[in-house]
Amino acid sequence: MTSFNYEDAQVSLEFLKKFLRVQPEIAIVSGSGLGDIAEVISDKNIIDVNDIPNWPISTAPGHSGKIIAGQIEGKNIILLQGRVHYYEGYSMKAVTFPTRIMGMLGVKVFIATNAAGAINTSFLPGEIIAVRDHINLMGTNPLIGPNDSRWNERFPDMSHAYNPEILATLSSFGLKTGVYAAFMGPSFETPAEVKMAGILGADLAGMSTVPEVIVANSMGMKVCVLSCVANMAAGIEPDKTLTGQEVLDTMKISSHKLAIIIAKLIKTL
Ligand code: HPA
Repeated sequence: MTSFNYEDAQVSLEFLKKFLRVQPEIAIVSGSGLGDIAEVISDKNIIDVNDIPNWPISTAPGHSGKIIAGQIEGKNIILLQGRVHYYEGYSMKAVTFPTRIMGMLGVKVFIATNAAGAINTSFLPGEIIAVRDHINLMGTNPLIGPNDSRWNERFPDMSHAYNPEILATLSSFGLKTGVYAAFMGPSFETPAEVKMAGILGADLAGMSTVPEVIVANSMGMKVCVLSCVANMAAGIEPDKTLTGQEVLDTMKISSHKLAIIIAKLIKTL
């Protein structure tokens, strides 16, 4: 039984390193239906995550379970297609295990993507938003438990959790920025929860990414998160209901646009 600790990660890391031809500087995590980023990767080297010892396997729709190493704009990158979520019943340690391995691999920049509901009424479905901060409403934290100092210090700073230089670059591309509120899921939020998150200062609601952002920061990686607005959050359009299929359908449309933004960003890194 994997406990997703440091020793387990070393085993996964050794396996992954054998397959990698070069050391990646940038890791990209693609969320629900956002796997198209693979289109902009050259010199591809593909691995099935089922082959990697200890790797947590996703059960969520739209998460393909592949790792693709290669190049984007001449930079060595590694794409993790699909993630595991807390709502799938995985522990926070499992959810953040791939992030840990990216840190141990020596990745410097961690780019995560996700699907989110818009709380901010100036955002539109299909739009891509640069996350500038988050509110963790998941009720837990991936760093809870005895601290392993080989990985991170006990109380990591989160003052600049979303790298300010990268955010400035994304703003210069014309992207809006927003605050992401992470809920546990898997039910969508109620209108009252969305209203609460808005009052607290959130622009987006989602069910992922924040655990990875906490761990990536704790390991000293520069973090960037791009959220694709899949839908207006519950209650924003009072006559509407939400479906997981609607989220995947919108993501299919945004996926290509997101790939182009990521390539443009990577060019500047
Ligand atoms: N809420 C939470 N997560 C989501 C949503 C939403 O409205 N849309 C896509 N992921």
